[in-house]
Amino acid sequence: MTAASAPLPASPEGGAVPRHVAIIMDGNGRWAKARRLPRIAGHKQGVDAVRRVSRAARELGIEVLTLYAFSSENWRRPEEEVRDLMGLLRHFLKNELRDLVAENVRLRVIGDYHALSDDLVAMIDGAIERTSVNTGATLVIALNYGAQAEIVAAARRLAAAAKAGELDPAAIDDTMFGDALTTHGLPPLDLLIRTSGEQRLSNFLLWQAAYAELLFVDTLWPDFDGAALADAIAQFGKRQRRFGGL
Ligand code: FPP
Repeated sequence: MTAASAPLPASPEGGAVPRHVAIIMDGNGRWAKARRLPRIAGHKQGVDAVRRVSRAARELGIEVLTLYAFSSENWRRPEEEVRDLMGLLRHFLKNELRDLVAENVRLRVIGDYHALSDDLVAMIDGAIERTSVNTGATLVIALNYGAQAEIVAAARRLAAAAKAGELDPAAIDDTMFGDALTTHGLPPLDLLIRTSGEQRLSNFLLWQAAYAELLFVDTLWPDFDGAALADAIAQFGKRQRRFGGL
């Protein structure tokens, strides 16, 4: 994945439609707190938003949607919340797989998901395998993902290849480095959205976001929907992207 910029398709309003959109889904806890509900209620609504928004993304013609579902730092949350999030993921994989297959969607996972429980790893591997022949949109879920660890792992792999004499260090360029990341083969990231009003990247897609447009919206993730995504795309369409040029 490089910053190369093939022309993007046009939206109904005439603006460009991003090929690859990533979302930091933030605000589940605050959504629940505002309703005096337990945090898990916010996460449950968050899963409904995942379903709605991933469908809307396909309808809008977005090729790849990457969702930050669980960061490598989220293990620091109380054990009960981590367990609840894993339960929701299990539920999601079980219930969504049929629709992903029916809708020709390929599932991909980035992050060290092998650290999750054995049954989840098996479900994830099964879902990736079942959808690998699909040719429509791609849904990427980031699980136990941290961008710094991803970059370090890529550097380590390239260094090992160089040490083994398989690679000339001088040949390492941004394309080769990008290909060593877990997002290899995906189109460049065009738009990164964070919900809930927070304005930081939280160790998400740091390399890939080099030329992405950033959009911070106040909506809490459980309230985000197809209309909010269409609005984000319309805002993206108005941005002037220069990739360092004039
Ligand atoms: C941030 O809200 C959200 C998360 C850490 C988890 C995101 C997970 C989901 C939307 C559900 C699981 C996803 C899938 C794909 C099954 P927060 O809890 O940090 O909210 P707060 O900042 O308001 O407390």
